[in-house]
Amino acid sequence: MNVCVFGASGYLGASVYQLLKEIPGTDVAGTYLEDPAVFDDLYKLDVNQPESFSEYFKQTQPDVIVWSVMSGPNEDELIQEGLRHLITHITPDTKLVYVSSDFVFADGYGPYSEGDSTSKLPAEHVLSTYANAKVKAENFITQDLSNYVILRAGPIYGENKIGKLDERTDQLIYQLRLGNRIAFRDDLIRTFVHVGDLAGVITEFIQNDQTGIYHAGPDKSYSFYEFMQQMAEKRGFNRELVEKAPEDEEVDKEVPKNTVLNTEKITQAVKQTFR
Ligand SMILES: NC(=O)c1ccc[n+]([C@@H]2O[C@H](COP(=O)([O-])OP(=O)(O)OC[C@H]3O[C@@H](n4cnc5c(N)ncnc54)[C@H](OP(=O)(O)O)[C@@H]3O)[C@@H](O)[C@H]2O)c1
Repeated sequence: MNVCVFGASGYLGASVYQLLKEIPGTDVAGTYLEDPAVFDDLYKLDVNQPESFSEYFKQTQPDVIVWSVMSGPNEDELIQEGLRHLITHITPDTKLVYVSSDFVFADGYGPYSEGDSTSKLPAEHVLSTYANAKVKAENFITQDLSNYVILRAGPIYGENKIGKLDERTDQLIYQLRLGNRIAFRDDLIRTFVHVGDLAGVITEFIQNDQTGIYHAGPDKSYSFYEFMQQMAEKRGFNRELVEKAPEDEEVDKEVPKNTVLNTEKITQAVKQTFR
């Protein structure tokens, strides 16, 4: 089986790439954009460049594609150009595993199930580019493809397969080591998912015949404040050093409050458990 991981140099993609390398009978290819790549054998590719993209796709002929690409402020271009281009290359035999986000539920009144309607943020909102591009991506995929898995995830945390931490935990440890206090919001509730568990479930979907939309993560949810207190304690720090951040926001910067994902469906579909 040929698998191609787009974004294999990224936080999640690197774990997926490494895990796949350990599976006998799997030929894995991966792409990166900015040097240096985290693995020597990755291919440098801008997915927004149609010609080099087509050439790469024809060369690798993947049976399964993992989309673990993200580009914050350029997310819309990534979907409008890169993902759309990818969709034109995919035959019904090629499976796409697309990593989406809990931010497709921008109204912020979770917990959400897979069948709930997605919503967009107003265009002027600071987070709209990323969140709305994810909604757009899901619409393209569900309209044009049948052989796909859309995997929605909340904040991803933990150490990945190459020892990289998520930026939030990295900051937490950095500040606590300096003896500083650090504050997180208590009014933003999420389903936090460990990078290793998410990479595990992606490799499972690569190898099985399941398709559709799934919410990834455990059945527990926390505020950022509660979760980061736990992270501090697990790393041997006093949890009281994590404080509550102010909750006042400007209207066009209001973050969706509760994007908790109901994860019952995925627990029925896969062997992977979520810590
Ligand atoms: N991190 C989270 O908490 C979180 C939560 C929910 C969903 N997700 C989703 O999970 C996926 C992976 O996220 P992540 O945290 O692993 O992101 P990440 O560390 O920023 O990795 C994203 C990767 O995308 C690549 N990339 C960006 N623009 C590209 C382009 N034009 N052409 C080719 N590659 C490009 C980057 O390549 P280089 O590094 O080589 O430049 C990078 O490796 C994304 O789909 C994201 O939306 C993430």
